[in-house]
Amino acid sequence: MKRLLSLTLLVMICFGTVSALAEAEWTFPVPLSQLTSEYAILVNRDHKLTKDDKPTNLVSVNLRKRTSTAVQMDAVAAKALSDLFEEASGVTDYTYRVETSDGSWETKQFSDSAGLKLLLVSGYRSYSSQYTIYNNYLERNNGVDDGISAPPGASEHQSGLACDVLSVGYNNTHKYMNESFYETPEAQWMEANAPAFGFIIRYPKGKDDITQVPYEPWHLRYVGREIAVYIQNSGLTFEEFTDEWQEALAAFEKDGGSVQAQLLLESTVVPVAVTTTVLDIYGEDGDPEVSLSMW
Ligand code: DAL
Ligand code: ZN
Repeated sequence: MKRLLSLTLLVMICFGTVSALAEAEWTFPVPLSQLTSEYAILVNRDHKLTKDDKPTNLVSVNLRKRTSTAVQMDAVAAKALSDLFEEASGVTDYTYRVETSDGSWETKQFSDSAGLKLLLVSGYRSYSSQYTIYNNYLERNNGVDDGISAPPGASEHQSGLACDVLSVGYNNTHKYMNESFYETPEAQWMEANAPAFGFIIRYPKGKDDITQVPYEPWHLRYVGREIAVYIQNSGLTFEEFTDEWQEALAAFEKDGGSVQAQLLLESTVVPVAVTTTVLDIYGEDGDPEVSLSMW
């Protein structure tokens, strides 16, 4: 009798375990393989790169640039940026908005057969290059670290996945980039459409308490299309998003889920294409040179 009870118990435990494993499904809307890829790396003042960290697959980016100095980026991010520039150059009409002196917003129409003119300002920056940029910025800013320039190790530019993109028109009329760049058709088009190419506006307006960086409408960070679209739709910062998926991962593992098994499963399943459309939100229709205006 005692033996039978033990056997029953053993069977129950085994079945329990098996069913717990079977129940642990990865239900987070982004595949785990993307979240654990190099493109989802979080870099900020609390998650710094070391001075020896350098991307292995940097390529020169041959796009319209601010200076003749070579700009490098991670190869995948560079290709995505090239696609983004190409798409922008075909946008000949775009409705955007500017703030008036009384604080209301006025709609404006961009029309130019040459399309939107994006301008690459900065891509990969080494630890030592960021060290110089940061210290130059502090000097110019009376020693105040206001978050605009990241200290060495805390800049996403060191990952090769970030870039600063302005417009030709804005660059011709402004010595330094600041949040007024938002009032250009290029900035608003990028905000609406960069996620379809795998980029997020990494430092959104009004989120500096979380990102520790003031609004930078020019700073694009490559994270891959699915993550970027998810972030765009959720309105989360990259910090919040990282917390969210890491909590989902902890719960998954607690329920008996296996990261290895999930990654194997994802590698054998043909991914479903994310359908994204290029939007017009308001209308119907090697190291760069060290410069004070590069943040
Ligand atoms: N401007 C951003 C925070 C950087 O320096 O990487
Ligand atoms: Zn930047």
